[in-house]
Amino acid sequence: MATHLDGKRVAEQVKASVADRVSQLKTVGVTPGLAVIQVGADPASSVYVRNKRRTCELLGFQSIAHDLPEATSETKLLQLIQHLNDDSQVHGILVQLPLPSGISPDKVMESINPTKDVDGFHPYNVGRLALGKPTLVPCTPLGIMRMLEYYHIVPAGKHAVVIGRSNTVGRPMAQLLLAADATVTVVHSKTPDAQSISREADILVVAMGRRQVVNRDWVKSGSVVVDVGIHRLDTGGLVGDCDFASVRDVASYLTPVPGGVGPMTIAMLMENTVRATETIVNRLDVSGSPENQR
Ligand code: GUN
Repeated sequence: MATHLDGKRVAEQVKASVADRVSQLKTVGVTPGLAVIQVGADPASSVYVRNKRRTCELLGFQSIAHDLPEATSETKLLQLIQHLNDDSQVHGILVQLPLPSGISPDKVMESINPTKDVDGFHPYNVGRLALGKPTLVPCTPLGIMRMLEYYHIVPAGKHAVVIGRSNTVGRPMAQLLLAADATVTVVHSKTPDAQSISREADILVVAMGRRQVVNRDWVKSGSVVVDVGIHRLDTGGLVGDCDFASVRDVASYLTPVPGGVGPMTIAMLMENTVRATETIVNRLDVSGSPENQR
């Protein structure tokens, strides 16, 4: 029977450390500010955004909320981001995805000052990660690495299989595991027989976005399984991309849903924001200008 990878517990530890760093910054007169922008009112996005803002406030950050109507133009959104880039009280900027169809997420991500890009989605930060020289790293994969570290699960020399190739999870996850000296395979919707590759994994990260697909037949005995999926059942419960009861019998470690990856994502967003703030403050000390960043 697998041991739970308790994301809630690890997230509490990360948040406590972030709160300490926020207190330190306040002693030099800086309150970290995180701007969270939501365009439209997608119900799932609204839940995530509310959680992010609430955690911000709990940890002593300034939460800067911008809720824009669904009909907002791309130009208007880009103007807001420019304004936030220039605002010295704002240290992190997050635009909740997905965006309405008329707005290019690529253009939006590229408009964010990379130093304030706490999602790690700007091409500069993506490129740094691909070079093995990470700066700000996407929160979900970063949180997964932190959870593995907490449980002394060492990726070096292991075969890690990532199911899914999204820019938010799969690709950066593969980069981080590679940087940690794992042998990494990425499988996706066009991979013939993904199941047999999955069965070879010592560490399996499931981010396919399909409900309860991965069962014991996808999992090697004794492997570590991380479930990134989150799906709401008609009955109101939450489940992941894994069939928990089935995988639990063969894996050595498994993340629960909820209480696994989800809490880590938010905790790492907070850590990225405090880190961005420290970077900005340190550069200010050296150059006297927040524009000489990077
Ligand atoms: N939508 C789903 N996941 C994410 C995320 O990590 N960041 C942002 N900005 N939007 C998301």
